Formats: sequence, structure tokens, C-alpha cells
Amino acid sequence: MSVYQATASAPVNIACIKYWGKRDTKLILPTNSSLSVTLDQDHLRSTTTARADPSFQKDRLWLNGTEDEIKDGGRLATCIKEMKALRKQLEDKDASLPKISSYSVHISSRNNFPTAAGLASSASGFAALVASLAALYKLPTSQSDLSRIARQGSGSACRSLFGGFVAWQMGELPDGSDSLAVEIAPREHWPDIHALICVVNDEKKGTSSTAGMQRTVETSPLLQHRIKHVVPARMAAISAAIRTRDFDAFARITMQDSNQFHAVALDTEPPIFYMNDVSRAIIALIVEYNRVAVEKTGKLKAAYTYDAGPNAVIYTPKEHIKEIVELIVKYFPQAENFKDPFGLFGAAGVQGKVVD
Ligand code: DP6
Repeated sequence: MSVYQATASAPVNIACIKYWGKRDTKLILPTNSSLSVTLDQDHLRSTTTARADPSFQKDRLWLNGTEDEIKDGGRLATCIKEMKALRKQLEDKDASLPKISSYSVHISSRNNFPTAAGLASSASGFAALVASLAALYKLPTSQSDLSRIARQGSGSACRSLFGGFVAWQMGELPDGSDSLAVEIAPREHWPDIHALICVVNDEKKGTSSTAGMQRTVETSPLLQHRIKHVVPARMAAISAAIRTRDFDAFARITMQDSNQFHAVALDTEPPIFYMNDVSRAIIALIVEYNRVAVEKTGKLKAAYTYDAGPNAVIYTPKEHIKEIVELIVKYFPQAENFKDPFGLFGAAGVQGKVVD
């Protein structure tokens, strides 16, 4: 008897130009394009195994060992349905293929980091889900095509199907067929950039991204300005900065966009606060660090960015990591458990309470 099973893993990505707002909540079509860096170390990944078997009664999913409901018409069900449809197309073309698209699937997914703590677990989770089903079904589909399906699981997931520097093009078509991820540059193009993750708080966040961004779309006038007049120019400028490996421009735009994302969260009614005092203290530290650097060399050395939670991600060229880690430990003495801070995109976890 044949066993139809495949495992795939996908990393977290951290946006430099933030996705915040949907123009279509069912298809997950964004109100603006976004751009991220996919972290390529082992610390922040989802690993997913998918199995198809004629004895399975229904599709089932386990997340970190606990079964999660697959709601009819929900995001998970949509992704599984779309992947089965792609397999079915293959089977219709080639009669020699086993008809596994008609079998139910069992899916088991694990994150090696706290789920839903603003560390983009849905991004790596849905990317790994789609990648594992693509491997199970032996689909010849391109990563961009798969990204359209992962997008319907969680918007930011579409970017985790690529490594390196990735743009999610918002697209224009109402069916979402042009809303997909493309690679701006592979990781090897700019291996010098690293990400330092400071886990300020690894508890589940207060307002989910999905609910928060919908409220922003409904109530924030600043969001309208952002999507029309700010993001298009920033997408072009940061893509150029990546292509020319211009860290100064990359850092400036990344920090501006993080600031504006948190400004639109504040401009939402009722306001949403994702950063806390520790987050703001880390910003102050990086601002001061950069001020001294600019005075000496005219160039920025680090960029902070924050997603829908208090944890800081600091992008910096490799040569500065040691200095930044030392600074954080000096000003946040409780910072501990640094994990592999010098590896490629090393995730240095400043675990737990950084300050009281
Ligand atoms: C702040 O992709 O989690 O991290 O599409 O509703 O699942 P849904 O939202 P999600 O939002 C991510 C928001 C962000 C910015 C970003 O990653 O671009």
C-alpha cells in the first residue's frame, strides 16, 4: 500500500513595508503592497506534515500537537480546497497519477517559537501548510502561484514562500489573480544583513492583526493617506535600496514604515497599541545609537521594526550585531537567553521580561 505523505517547513518573514488593511476580506486582497525579509535561520520556522489516505474520514489539523477545528469556508479549508483542486487538474491530465485529490488529509504543524505573539506565526504556518500540500501532491506550480493560495490563509504568508527579500504586489484584479509574492532579491544578494529578534513579551497579543487592520480600514483617515500617497513610493525606494545594498536607505525607510504602521494603529477607533514601554525604550536606544553613528560616519547602523506586538526586530549589518547585543544587555540587564546572535539572520531572543 502506498503512503502519501510529505513534510515541508517555512520560515517567518518580517515586513519592512507593512501590510495593514484588506480591500477584500474573503480573498485577502490588501490595500497596499508590502515588502519583507524572510528569516533564514532555524529558530523561527513552522514545519508541517501532510498525509492523504483513503481511510481518513475528513480533513483534520493539529497545531503544536493540539487539534484545531477546520471550519467550513474558513481560511484553512480554503487553502486545502485550492490545493486539492490543483492536484485534481494534474490527475485529469495524466490518468496514470493516483487519485489522491479525493482523499481527506491529516495535517500536523509545529512552530518552534511562541504562536501568535506578534512573531508572524500565521505567515510561516500557512506557507508551510501550502508547501507541504504542494509536495504531497507533487505540484509543478511556481512559488508565486502557490503564494496566491497561501495569501488566502493569511496575507503575510504569501511572502514566506520565498527566501530573501520579497514583495507582495497588491494587484488590481477583483479575483486576486495578480495579488502575489515576487522575489526582489535572493538572500545571497545581501548576506550581510542580519535580524536580531528581541522578544519583549511572548504572550498571545491583545488585538489580532485580522481584527485590528479591519478596524483601521473602517476608521482611520491616516490609512487612506498612507495607502495612496506613502507606500507606493516607499516600495520603489526600498526595492532600489535592496538592489544596490544601500543599508542607510533601507534602514531609514524600514523605521519610517514601522512608525507609520503604529501611527495608523493609533489613528484607529478605538486606538490600538501594539508597542509597550520596553518597545519604545528599544526604539530610543537604536535612535541614539544611530545618532552617534551618523555623527561619526554619516550612515545609519541599525533599523528597528515592530509588527502587531511589542517585540522588536532589529536589522543590522553583521559587523554591528555584537555591539548592539552588548548595548541591549547593558540597558536591559534582565535580557538573557541570547540564541546564536551571530548566525545568519541570527535570532537573538531577549526572552521574557526585559525590564520590570
Ligand atoms: C503587522 O498576515 O497576520 O505583521 O491576513 O489577517 O492573516 P491576516 O493578517 P497578517 O498581518 C500581518 C500584519 C503585520 C505586517 C506585515 O507582516 O506585513
